[in-house]
Amino acid sequence: MSNELSDAAQRAQHYLENVGKRRVAPDSISIRALDELSGPLPETGEEAELVIADLDRLGSPATVASAGGRYFGFVVGSGLPVALAANWLAGSWNQNVAMEVMSPVGSRLERVALGWIRDVLALPSESQGAFVTGDTLANFTALAAARHEVLRKVGYDVESQGMSRAPSVTVLVGNEVHVSVLRAISLLGLGRDRVVRLPVDEQGRMQVDQLPSVSGPTIVCTQVGNVNTGTSDPVREISRRVHPSGAWVHVDGAFGLWARVSPGRRAQIDGVEEADSWALDCHKWLNVPYDSGAVFVRNSDALRAAMAAGPAAYLPSGGEGDRMEFTPEMSRRARGVDVWAALRYLGRSGLADLVERCCAHARLFADRLTAAGFHVLNDVELNQVLVSFGSDAVTRAVISAIQQEGTCWCGGTVWHGTTAMRISVSSWATTETDVERSVEAMIRVAKELVPD
Ligand SMILES: Cc1ncc(COP(=O)(O)O)c(C=O)c1O
Repeated sequence: MSNELSDAAQRAQHYLENVGKRRVAPDSISIRALDELSGPLPETGEEAELVIADLDRLGSPATVASAGGRYFGFVVGSGLPVALAANWLAGSWNQNVAMEVMSPVGSRLERVALGWIRDVLALPSESQGAFVTGDTLANFTALAAARHEVLRKVGYDVESQGMSRAPSVTVLVGNEVHVSVLRAISLLGLGRDRVVRLPVDEQGRMQVDQLPSVSGPTIVCTQVGNVNTGTSDPVREISRRVHPSGAWVHVDGAFGLWARVSPGRRAQIDGVEEADSWALDCHKWLNVPYDSGAVFVRNSDALRAAMAAGPAAYLPSGGEGDRMEFTPEMSRRARGVDVWAALRYLGRSGLADLVERCCAHARLFADRLTAAGFHVLNDVELNQVLVSFGSDAVTRAVISAIQQEGTCWCGGTVWHGTTAMRISVSSWATTETDVERSVEAMIRVAKELVPD
């Protein structure tokens, strides 16, 4: 083996063995030391081992320790070791999964892994999909298929004719829509300021009784797993209301869709199988290495038509395994390999355990912080907790202090006008001890800022 490969593997092992012992956010000295990685491109090349050694010496200390168990920022997974190992192997294969002929193994594993996800999430068996970089691109891909289909139904071919003369498309979203959906809407020329925003209840769920009657080309964007509260829109009722008029229902389920793997939580995320398309992340709750998302569309013809590229003499015509037919990209890394490994390692029961463990840890955070006298703002249904430590200014100060203190890392948000700390438990690596240590730090930091 080349020395740099075994050297990097050893360094990675050392990093991961120690990631739980260090502070979560890097310290300012490590960040300043990154300057050493800058500078002009060397005139002559350097030894591979030296390149890797510098990367580790300067890069590793400046990472955010999200591979450990006490990172609760945004919604971030940790990377299961088995998925990371598969990712390394797949990296050494260096496969391009644009077409089956370019990587029989990459294409096969992509299809197998997509089939397993479809199965474990109980999505319709006829839906087809692909792996993309993440949920943002999954939303974009699904909504491109939606745009194709609602316009096709009124006799308009948007892929060849463009948007300038297209019939108007109504896009309905809940007031709590994730910004990535709005980004997809703007990229697709549907106009982010033209969306109709529907009211939501106090936990952020779309209110079905506020749905207007729809007609003509219409797309309804629902959400499963609100980024603040973790709650989900009632997708079944929404689908049943709008489907008779021919509307397309999309589900943005970045992390929340994974809750379907737990039999105890199926009812909570009920009815999503009635939608037309689904976007989700694998790098969040499935804990595969970044970046990794997946898209599924019930009407695979619509997806294929939306993603179609012109024929090119050098490209073989599309076969079942040619996933470039289903994504905006052509060349792609073999994301299916990491996902396949994670799913095979966990199995159905391991997946359900992972989800349940994260939810139980979120509950523990909420209980401990409530018992300490702080205010949990959301119904903790899933893995998200919003907590206020007093006034907005105090909560902001606690968030900043906890990030500096280093035991754990949480970000902030504003929920119904109140500043809150967001705790998102999404890592396979989080243990009860991690939660207790983090709660202890939060309470200590908050009490230092506002003594009783
Ligand atoms: C509901 C929802 N949609 C979309 C996204 C964007 O996902 P990504 O950053 O993987 O593209 C997120 C990220 O947290 C999310 O929670």
